[in-house]
Amino acid sequence: MRKRTRSEEVIRRDRRVFMTTTREAASFVVDHGEGEFAYDIDGNKVLDFTSFISVYNFGVNSSKAVRNAIKAQVDKMMHAAFMDYYSELPVSFAELLIRQFPNGFGKVFLSNSGTEANEDAIKIARYNTRKHYLISFYGAFHGRSLGSLSLTASRNVQRAYLGPFSEVIHAPYPNPYRCAFGTDNEEECGREHVEYIREHILKREAAAGEIAAIFMEPIQGEGGYIVPPKSFVRGIRELADENNIVLVSDEVQAGYMRTGKFLALDNFGVRADIYTMAKSIGAGLPMAATIANNRLSSMPQGKHSGTFGGNLAAVAGAYEQLKHVTRNSHKIEREVKEKGRLAMKRLLEMRDSYEIVGDARGIGLMLAIELVRDKGSKEPAPELRDRVVKRALDNGLLLLGCGDSSIRVIPPLTISRGSLERGLDILDAAIKDGR
Ligand SMILES: Cc1ncc(COP(=O)(O)O)c(C=O)c1O
Repeated sequence: MRKRTRSEEVIRRDRRVFMTTTREAASFVVDHGEGEFAYDIDGNKVLDFTSFISVYNFGVNSSKAVRNAIKAQVDKMMHAAFMDYYSELPVSFAELLIRQFPNGFGKVFLSNSGTEANEDAIKIARYNTRKHYLISFYGAFHGRSLGSLSLTASRNVQRAYLGPFSEVIHAPYPNPYRCAFGTDNEEECGREHVEYIREHILKREAAAGEIAAIFMEPIQGEGGYIVPPKSFVRGIRELADENNIVLVSDEVQAGYMRTGKFLALDNFGVRADIYTMAKSIGAGLPMAATIANNRLSSMPQGKHSGTFGGNLAAVAGAYEQLKHVTRNSHKIEREVKEKGRLAMKRLLEMRDSYEIVGDARGIGLMLAIELVRDKGSKEPAPELRDRVVKRALDNGLLLLGCGDSSIRVIPPLTISRGSLERGLDILDAAIKDGR
């Protein structure tokens, strides 16, 4: 059991001063961290399987080189009102970022968070198409500011009594583990979901001529780490093309090498018209980017801006990290795939060994298991999931839930194989004890 004297005192003080948030935070009071480890203020060490909510893809507290770049920039100039005055660093960063995108992607907008990146994408899509409806999916999480929250349909507590919302139509997202159309054939499940949009949404709710954009997570994150069938992702691209609808890939959680590829959508052989990125792109500082193809990139001056977008300290870290990622992308991809295979093998063994592990899924190191009451009913088991997460923390492993009763396995991509195995051992033991 962990020693927790100082932690408990900080938690008591925290509860007195902060507004309640959406979810009870894990009772871990962070002090510092490095690599795949973090320490609380009582000196307890934990292994991180969360990348601190997908932000530290390249190690907790990022690399020394990233930290040094940030420190040097802090001494020189932190904020230079990039939206109002020119500076070189964000230009260099954007030039390198654009090179990671398909031909025809020439323009970037920098902001500070995933929700902002999606707000920008909404504006770009609406302005350029002069259409107003948006389509997103049940289970989607695109952020919490009101435009992005209109797209989000993850859990109703996030939306209740906060409307009215923007005009968004939510469609079912295909979950091969429990296909809403009752088929076990993954690709057929994907096709049925596209057909639903054609038959029900486009014919009954809104004409294609009114729909500006479809927002899609290439792997649904907060909604449960659900990997859609290829037929679905490709079908959505076709549907968007046929109807002059902008396809937005929200890469905030799935992108930036998490699946082994810079863009998670590349796993499906599909291109979007706009990509949004945040979390790991900033290497620990708030930073986000919206990248649009040239066809959509012209917005009149004054249409969109922000105070902190392109903040020099944030860009310094992001640029240093991006240089590392682009120079080593093949090696990183190889390692992510290899570690992902190792982890997936263990997760599948857990699924096969325990009645309460219904599913194991993911791509690269964006993995999850789903806990259920039993395999036959597939009924979600949120209390059981919470107990497993808590027990793992008591045994030194930081985990994070998603969906109704799933657990993410998203360690920093730089994790050693030994630590990965060790974390999976702790997870396995926590499930065994939690049955
Ligand atoms: C896919 C996705 N989009 C958008 C967001 C919102 O990002 P932020 O919390 O930085 O606003 C998140 C956050 O979890 C996310 O996972």
